[in-house]
Amino acid sequence: MKNENVITFNRPDDWHLHVRNDDVLAAVIGDTSRDFGRAIIMPNLPTPITTRSMATAYRDEILNQLPDKSKFSPLMTCYLTDTTDPDDLREGLKSGAYTAAKLYPAGATTNSNNGVTNISYLDDVFDVLSELGCPLLVHGEVVDDNVDVFDRENVFIQKILIPLRARHKKLKIVFEHITTKQAVEYIENENPSCLAATITPHHLSINRNAMFQGGIRPHMYCLPIAKREEHRRTLLRAACSGDEHFFLGTDSAPHTKETKESSCGCAGIYNSPCAISTYLQIFEQADALGQFNDFASKNGPLFYNLPINTELVTYKKENKPLVFPNVVIDADSVEVFSPPFNLYWKKATS
Ligand code: DOR
Ligand code: ZN
Repeated sequence: MKNENVITFNRPDDWHLHVRNDDVLAAVIGDTSRDFGRAIIMPNLPTPITTRSMATAYRDEILNQLPDKSKFSPLMTCYLTDTTDPDDLREGLKSGAYTAAKLYPAGATTNSNNGVTNISYLDDVFDVLSELGCPLLVHGEVVDDNVDVFDRENVFIQKILIPLRARHKKLKIVFEHITTKQAVEYIENENPSCLAATITPHHLSINRNAMFQGGIRPHMYCLPIAKREEHRRTLLRAACSGDEHFFLGTDSAPHTKETKESSCGCAGIYNSPCAISTYLQIFEQADALGQFNDFASKNGPLFYNLPINTELVTYKKENKPLVFPNVVIDADSVEVFSPPFNLYWKKATS
């Protein structure tokens, strides 16, 4: 008989993760290495990772902070700027120092001031990525005071993504942390082999009301900002469909309470400790646990041309709601994402 309180799947990967450096890295990396085989590490440190030697040093710093015997593998990315050297990028990708390159439109989010001001400067960089079959990861929002913050993703599709794909037909693109119906439908309608998207646990769990529940809720604020309920429902449909264009990327982004609970609070939601439990809860509610392995463990490696993790992990449903304590960093802490429903799925294997 089928046991509906147990699920076994290939060890998942996180295809979009922020772990920072120094004491924050030391405090958070165990929450990812415990549950995931690999993670695409975002390069938006205060001094961004713009060269392959920086990527190698950052990778070593992460490896040094891993718990003993961890087999977790960080996959590094290059932070693109207006002056990225295509040759350094090519060497970095060929040598494995980088797995992908990340496009932050300048000013779009945390530590994006050195990001790209005009993507037409990067045609040589996109040619290198196309030549090597390595993905361009995009933060898909336009930065323009005349564009409403809730429309930034849709305008990005029209103004940036469509022309970019027309100019670079072989370029593989991951549209990161999508938040809109328009993004899902664009991908579904195009049905391309060279475009995919990551979906976060928080964008599957909350709509924009969550930021204003009885007052301003800084721990529900991230970028791209959560949208209306109809968008959340469309994301849910896409994630739960098993469609190979959609896969897991937490966008877990730790900021201390002091920096979030401020007159100008940082964007970012820290969800690593509860990410798998949250996704499982959502898939269960949607009666889609049968598609979970595709979303969490298969579609990502297929797109990145990497092997699927062979190790299997098992999660069991507890009777009582799980509790995820905040992460303490000196006198401060990082608050763990709390979805508006209880979580019960707990890892049963080590
Ligand atoms: O909410 C976000 N936080 N969105 C991003 O794009 C960056 C991230 C961060 O680094 O904190
Ligand atoms: Zn991110």
